[in-house]
Amino acid sequence: MISLRINGESKTVDAPGDMPLLWALRDLLGLTGTKFGCGIAQCGACTVHVDGKPVRSCLLPLNAIGDRAITTIEGIGATAAGAKVQKAWLHLEVIQCGYCQSGQIMSATALLNSTPNPDDSDINAAMAGNICRCGTYVRIREAIKQAAQSV
Ligand code: FES
Ligand code: FES
Repeated sequence: MISLRINGESKTVDAPGDMPLLWALRDLLGLTGTKFGCGIAQCGACTVHVDGKPVRSCLLPLNAIGDRAITTIEGIGATAAGAKVQKAWLHLEVIQCGYCQSGQIMSATALLNSTPNPDDSDINAAMAGNICRCGTYVRIREAIKQAAQSV
């Protein structure tokens, strides 16, 4: 049994220590907002926060997490920056198919927490690992800037 702190709650999963966090979130805990894209840390769809830092959960084994705090898309709206990001996303209708967007929001929120007023190069650096096959990049950039104005 492995204990995890997820979205402010303690959870226990019956899983091998080398299971990636993404599998536990989706298949054992029912937190399906975090998506499986590539499985090899190349697309960003599976991004969650570990102690506030964006992490690809598809390659993070459960036994490497310890007591660090995990935040998923289901919990990010309870944070100040996360709420602003989600509001801007809705206001600008960023989402197309939606598959990549939980990862995009998690990376954008982490960016605003570390860099409250990001410029284009900050956004490029922070969001480079989040792929959107629908090409919503222009609206993502605009929404990050709108959220930054209100954080
Ligand atoms: S599923 Fe983890 S980075 Fe693509
Ligand atoms: S909105 Fe469809 S992959 Fe990004």
